[in-house]
Amino acid sequence: MTIPRRTQVGIVGAGPSGLLLARLLHRQGIDVVVLERRSREYVEKRIRAGVLEQGSAALLERAGVAEGLHAAGHVHEGVRVAFDERLARVDLKQHAGSAVIVYGQTEITRELYRRNLADGIDIRFEVEATAVRDLDRGAARIDYRGAHGAGSVLCDYVAGCDGFHGASRRSAPEGAFRTWERAWPFGWLGVLSNTRPAAPELIYSSHARGFALCSQRSTSVSRHYVQVPSGENAESWSDAAFWDELRRRLPAAVAESLETGPSLEKSIAPLRSVICEPLRCGRLFLVGDAGHIVPPTGAKGLNLAIADAAMLASALQAFYAEGEEVGLERYSETALARVWNAERFSWWFTSATHNLSDDAFDRRMQVADLEYFTGTDAGRRVFAENYVGMPVVDPVSGERLA
Ligand code: FAD
Ligand code: PHB
Repeated sequence: MTIPRRTQVGIVGAGPSGLLLARLLHRQGIDVVVLERRSREYVEKRIRAGVLEQGSAALLERAGVAEGLHAAGHVHEGVRVAFDERLARVDLKQHAGSAVIVYGQTEITRELYRRNLADGIDIRFEVEATAVRDLDRGAARIDYRGAHGAGSVLCDYVAGCDGFHGASRRSAPEGAFRTWERAWPFGWLGVLSNTRPAAPELIYSSHARGFALCSQRSTSVSRHYVQVPSGENAESWSDAAFWDELRRRLPAAVAESLETGPSLEKSIAPLRSVICEPLRCGRLFLVGDAGHIVPPTGAKGLNLAIADAAMLASALQAFYAEGEEVGLERYSETALARVWNAERFSWWFTSATHNLSDDAFDRRMQVADLEYFTGTDAGRRVFAENYVGMPVVDPVSGERLA
């Protein structure tokens, strides 16, 4: 079937943000076309986030895509932070009155595909947007190319949901966005395995050798990470080398009882902090990773992507239903207020837990920082409040969306 030449909202990218936005708009009768440069199988296999804020879960529930989340997500009321031989716990329920849900992004994406395609939402796979143009004209244009040739779609608005390496942000005229950036000199080597999780809750471990994280997908599937220098490649790490390094970075009692096994997947993700300001250029809106990247330490990326999509959906609904443009005008500042705070938390938690230098003073300060944030009521409250996530505000009404 040929791709329509005209739509109301053109969505570039079918990751979680593009899929959720498409769903929310379609439900309001707004016409959308979604272009995704990869195949459905490829996107569905990409292993990424594991921690959802309750606000994100509520937004997915309202969109009718939380069946799997309710059936298989695990509510965690606490999180553990290890440093040297200590293992502290922050009670999220007690200090922030909320919890997080451990559930794979992969599963959320699969449910979104299933429901969206069943509802007849127009998603085109293996079609790559090459540019987004005419952002200040009467209609914007997405140029694309795919197996069946090249073309363009005219749109009232374009949602750039195409992640950090996408085409949308790069298409805007020079100077349209200011970009704030920090490239951290390390990445995370992640391993998925059919092994029992190290503990009932996640363990973020700060060690002089480097950071490690014990996460999970279920009671029998674990996801672990270790900090590695930039430029390392996953193939040079045998499973045995990975488990040895992980064990060294955990308190002895955790390391001794750690179950190991063959890796089902092994990959390296670079760590970046990026914020693009504003998140709008004329008819183009940036959503999720296309507009901002956080290092994964704070578990915020997917949550920000979901919140952005919900905010922009509300703004576009108000526009199409009532001609109300205030939400569109306020989208960038409303979303960015939340983004900057999540960036700050992710930057702080990364700095406090990763090996940034071999300086003994720096290391001692990290330990003092972690002692404060896990060992005092005030510190635990600040940590918990940030980890469970800030409210999502409706750019139209200024009230809470989740
Ligand atoms: P993406 O998921 O990147 O989707 C963008 C889509 O656009 C892709 O499918 C891509 O193929 C497509 N695309 C790109 N360019 C084009 C183009 N030119 N034309 C058409 N399509 C295009 N976040 C959390 O909240 N909690 C966590 O625990 C967490 N852990 C993480 C762990 C790791 C190892 C990593 C790497 C990330 C983690 N994140 C986490 C971050 C989270 O995965 C991302 O923030 C999230 O995927 C962003 O969703 P998105 O839809 O904005 O972008
Ligand atoms: C994950 O399970 O993949 C995960 C969990 C917490 C994070 C990052 C990633 O902070």
